[in-house]
Amino acid sequence: MNTLPAAWGIIAPVSGIPFGRYELLRKLAAGGMAEVFLAREWGEAGFFRELAIKRLFPHLVDHPPSLRSFQIEARLMGELCHPNIPQVYELGQFDGQWFVAMEYVDGHNIADLSRMSARAGYPIPLSVALGIVLQVAEGLHHAHERKDRAGRSIGFVHRDLTPHNIMVTADGVAKLMDFGVAQTNATLEERGAVRGTYAYMAPEQVRGMALDRRSDVFALGIILYELTTGTRLFTGTDVQIMTAVTERDAPPPSSRVSGYPQDLEAIVMAALARDPDHRIASAADLSLHLWNFAVRNGLLVGPRAIAHHVQLVAPRSRLLDEELGFVDPRISQPGIPISDFDPSSFSSEAPEDTGIRRSWIPAPSDEHLKSGVFSDAARAVLLEEDDEIDLADLLEDDGPPEWDDDPPRR
Ligand SMILES: Nc1ncnc2c1ncn2[C@@H]1O[C@H](COP(=O)(O)OP(=O)(O)O)[C@@H](O)[C@H]1O
Ligand SMILES: [Mg+2]
Repeated sequence: MNTLPAAWGIIAPVSGIPFGRYELLRKLAAGGMAEVFLAREWGEAGFFRELAIKRLFPHLVDHPPSLRSFQIEARLMGELCHPNIPQVYELGQFDGQWFVAMEYVDGHNIADLSRMSARAGYPIPLSVALGIVLQVAEGLHHAHERKDRAGRSIGFVHRDLTPHNIMVTADGVAKLMDFGVAQTNATLEERGAVRGTYAYMAPEQVRGMALDRRSDVFALGIILYELTTGTRLFTGTDVQIMTAVTERDAPPPSSRVSGYPQDLEAIVMAALARDPDHRIASAADLSLHLWNFAVRNGLLVGPRAIAHHVQLVAPRSRLLDEELGFVDPRISQPGIPISDFDPSSFSSEAPEDTGIRRSWIPAPSDEHLKSGVFSDAARAVLLEEDDEIDLADLLEDDGPPEWDDDPPRR
């Protein structure tokens, strides 16, 4: 065992299994085609970084469709560059084994996060749900907008947006994962079959019809529905789900959670329109509608609020326990309905405790006062600090300001 020079007082022993210029530290997951490892890469003078290595199962090297699919996923991800999509560093081969080296996403997928939240007694707050969906929408829109070198759209459709394929880090950053069944113009014919997860598919996808970015908007609409209501939208056998998706409109979120905000419900239902022509047309549009809703309601939807929630329900020690297999194994089993959900946490009366204590509150502009739009927290602080605030005074148009001295120079 080598001992490396101390960096910040930490002596890092070399303990992994060598794999080319990397070392594999721990297996993170295994899927149908590949296993994912936490790995480390060393540089000069004690430099190192952690990363994820996704390694194609050795027996699939001789299965050309699997190998090709693995390579296409890596090449596609390599062309994307966005904070909400893991960065791919390398597609390579070592000792006859194909692998992808990519950014390590140190976090949880949102199916696990929902369950941990319910069990910890802190269902995912509305601001956190919105914040996660907003970030995914941004990453998704980046991929949808991707052009080839001639400036033509590559025709990207992710096709497999599910709670298992969205991860959230302890810093509150959401990452869209798993581009394994993504479609582009270049792969259209060879990937024509129905791929994805039925419970998160648009009607046109279930029917095997032509897809475009709006199909991903529908899937993200399902995720938004589920995160904000704490219930699954489509359940049952594949056939039951396929029938429900294609033949019935989703039950309005307010039928599941009393007090569900009406304008949010309108956005959710517009993302879930069965006819793509009547659906919110892009992930960017969905993002704008949600931002607007969040701002109007004074919700803090940034990474800090998400980070606070993640740390609350999945503190670091618990993360480690889970990685070592000490946590209830059902937590990572897909398909368990979200139980123990307390819808009252979304009640519009109760301002959410985001855990953020503000030391500075921006002064509300006249516009804010006229529309009554500023956050409950800000309003509370204002009222607390100065009961005598006379709104009429603030609203009066006094004409141009009078300067005590000379006007300030720019
Ligand atoms: N970059 C990464 N960082 C951390 N974990 C990852 C990373 N990529 C994949 N994983 C883990 O591996 C699992 C499977 O990877 P994914 O790309 O979704 O492949 P599959 O097609 O097998 O579902 C993910 O759900 C996640 O737990
Ligand atoms: Mg996956």
